[in-house]
Amino acid sequence: MALERTFSIIKPDATRRNITGKVLSYIEGAGLRVIAQKRIHMSKAQAEGFYAVHKERPFFGELVEFMISGPVVVQVLEGENAIAKYREVMGATNPANAAQGTIRKDLAESIEANTVHGSDAPETAAQEIAYFFKDDEIVG
Ligand code: PPS
Repeated sequence: MALERTFSIIKPDATRRNITGKVLSYIEGAGLRVIAQKRIHMSKAQAEGFYAVHKERPFFGELVEFMISGPVVVQVLEGENAIAKYREVMGATNPANAAQGTIRKDLAESIEANTVHGSDAPETAAQEIAYFFKDDEIVG
């Protein structure tokens, strides 16, 4: 299968607890390569734009406030079947439902402070990567 790219965010609960390296070990352990990475503190407008698809959901305001509560690490990951593979390594959105050995089961604090975001489909991966990275920042 051809190499695929996905977009990842290591969320503020992970930067606050200084466990971004631990998260990275799950990513690399799954055979995914980090081909772009930067630490940023999102503005409210940037977070609202990123999560616009969820704007009608009851938790939208809390999600945005959480995502701007501290720095995050945004990444482009590359590998075979990267989108599905990363979703598997992340585990279920709610850590209470996540499988053993996943990032969210092992590290996440709650459904809100759930440590990582990963794209859910090729189209969203392309959009999300372009939202945070210029082409020349991605070194595959
Ligand atoms: S998913 O991954 O899109 O299928 O998950 P979904 O359940 O649709 O959730 C979308 C994002 O919203 C976050 N979320 C919440 N934030 C705060 N409070 C509550 N109750 C809550 N429920 C879901 C969830 O972590 C997803 O964030 P991202 O960054 O997309 O993973």
